[in-house]
Amino acid sequence: MRPIRIALTKGRLEKRAVTLFQTIGLDCTNLVAKGRKLILPVDNYEVVLAKSADVITYVEHGTCDIGIVGKDTIMEKNPDVYEMTDLGFGKCRFALAVQKGKKFYDGCNEKIIATKYPSVAAEFFEKKDMDVQIIKIEGSVELAPLLGLADAIVDIVETGTTLKENGLEVIEDIVPLSARVIVNKASMKLRKEEIEEFLHDIDLAEEVC
Ligand code: PRP
Repeated sequence: MRPIRIALTKGRLEKRAVTLFQTIGLDCTNLVAKGRKLILPVDNYEVVLAKSADVITYVEHGTCDIGIVGKDTIMEKNPDVYEMTDLGFGKCRFALAVQKGKKFYDGCNEKIIATKYPSVAAEFFEKKDMDVQIIKIEGSVELAPLLGLADAIVDIVETGTTLKENGLEVIEDIVPLSARVIVNKASMKLRKEEIEEFLHDIDLAEEVC
């Protein structure tokens, strides 16, 4: 049987996750010195490095058993997986932001929203019973209002620096976010013991931290 596979989101969450793995006693030598390798043996596990949306895809399809990914991507993709643990790091929030001083809710024209998270944005405005046009942007969403493409953005805000340095401000917080552990539904049945051991170790480590 192959080792339990953990899909880990590359980038922001990666460093904190490696620290967490070390805290639960895993030998992360390979992971720390990974170079450009994408699949790394870490003790009895196999760690797969992927973009957040792909972490979800691999776990949903069962090619990875466990995933470590932001709640932002989980909310956007709404995958058919178990969401198990809030890891408490990678904390940020979804927010609605506009150019400083702009009055977003004034006027009755249909507003244009730029976002990397079209489903999250659509749900947010549906709840407000507000018709908006949503434009999907792949990165640096802050550009869209500055260039006149959108009236506002729905995006993740961590420190607020990107907004501030680009003359934007939050007008509404939507929801707090953080890194989560997700588990494939079939793996949870077929490899219950191994997965529960991992989750248990993580819970203990969180209590210590
Ligand atoms: C995210 C987000 C903001 C920024 C917020 O982008 O889309 O641009 O981080 O962080 P801050 O509040 O600490 O400034 P990311 O760095 O993931 O890059 P991208 O927009 O190119 O995807």
